[in-house]
Amino acid sequence: LSQENQQVLSAHEWLTKLYHHLIRFTKDGKAGYQYLKERGITDEAIDTFQLGFAPNTKDFTATFLEKKGFHQQLLVKFGLLSRNQEDGSVTDRFRGRVIYPIRNHLGKTIAFGARAIQDQEPKYLNSPETELFQKGKLLYNFDLAKKHIRKTSEAILFEGYMDVISAYQSGVQNVVATMGTALTELQAKLLKRYVDTVIICYDGDNAGVEATYKASKILQQVGCQVKIAHIKDGLDPDSYIKKYGGEAFKKEVIDASDTFISFYMRYLKKDYNLSLEGDRIRYLEQVLMELANIESSIEREFYVKELSTEFDISIDTLSSEIQHYRQKTG
Ligand code: UTP
Ligand code: MN
Ligand code: MN
Ligand code: MN
Ligand code: MN
Repeated sequence: LSQENQQVLSAHEWLTKLYHHLIRFTKDGKAGYQYLKERGITDEAIDTFQLGFAPNTKDFTATFLEKKGFHQQLLVKFGLLSRNQEDGSVTDRFRGRVIYPIRNHLGKTIAFGARAIQDQEPKYLNSPETELFQKGKLLYNFDLAKKHIRKTSEAILFEGYMDVISAYQSGVQNVVATMGTALTELQAKLLKRYVDTVIICYDGDNAGVEATYKASKILQQVGCQVKIAHIKDGLDPDSYIKKYGGEAFKKEVIDASDTFISFYMRYLKKDYNLSLEGDRIRYLEQVLMELANIESSIEREFYVKELSTEFDISIDTLSSEIQHYRQKTG
């Protein structure tokens, strides 16, 4: 580790402790504490995830770090402080926000996500991407989830910080998140080292569904089995847990997750008008092509039967079409 990176890690460690102390024990952190309480986050989870609050001040953080002897320029570069363009002065960057320390896989804080507690933009202000922190190379909470992932050979993949924290505090602990960006091949390979199956549990809105399809493809490419959790009413995992509880989340969402192919059959329907003959045919061809990738003939037959009923086409015709695709792709 370069001396510069050591300094930066040390600054992150100090700030993690400071912000956490403020939210847990002081008046200055009260707004953040109340915010998390309203969202149902327990003290234990606040401690486990080292959540904190950065007070809404111009130079509280700047002064604190200056007293510790850190170089201002370095702190600005790594997004812990900001430089005022007009007078060049250096001030706090996270102001009046709840702080989510982002830990690397060894458990060291290397960045922060900072959530607005009213509706300021952006909702989350994150540390900038640097050589120390690249969103695409890291999964949020991987350090804590690792032992639970090993135990079950399964990982649950979320979009966001709060999904992870909510699930974790309600006892579902093999959980990580991509922090809102598309899953990268690197992240997929990382999961593959520890699991057979990844359960994708993205938000139930359109963006979440699109991202689910893309993440599935990447995970399958690196050899992971994929299951897809389906969350009703367009909720996200955190809001589902808040509404229905952790038990229901485990039973109705995680244990009930779909195979990739049944997700795909549903997902693909948005591109077709199945009351039109031409669209029905093209839809079926797409689905059969995907079915051709399935190795288990039992599993293939299961879906063939389903399609045969839904589209009133014989099982033989559907099966021979699948064979045709299988030969083509070898
Ligand atoms: P979401 O918009 O789904 O937010 O983004 P969320 O996690 O449900 O957040 P809450 O419940 O409103 O607090 C998913 C993830 O994308 C990243 C964050 O990691 C977030 O958890 N994101 C989102 C950002 O980095 N910046 C943003 O402004 C929004
Ligand atoms: Mn989302
Ligand atoms: Mn969300
Ligand atoms: Mn949410
Ligand atoms: Mn053909």
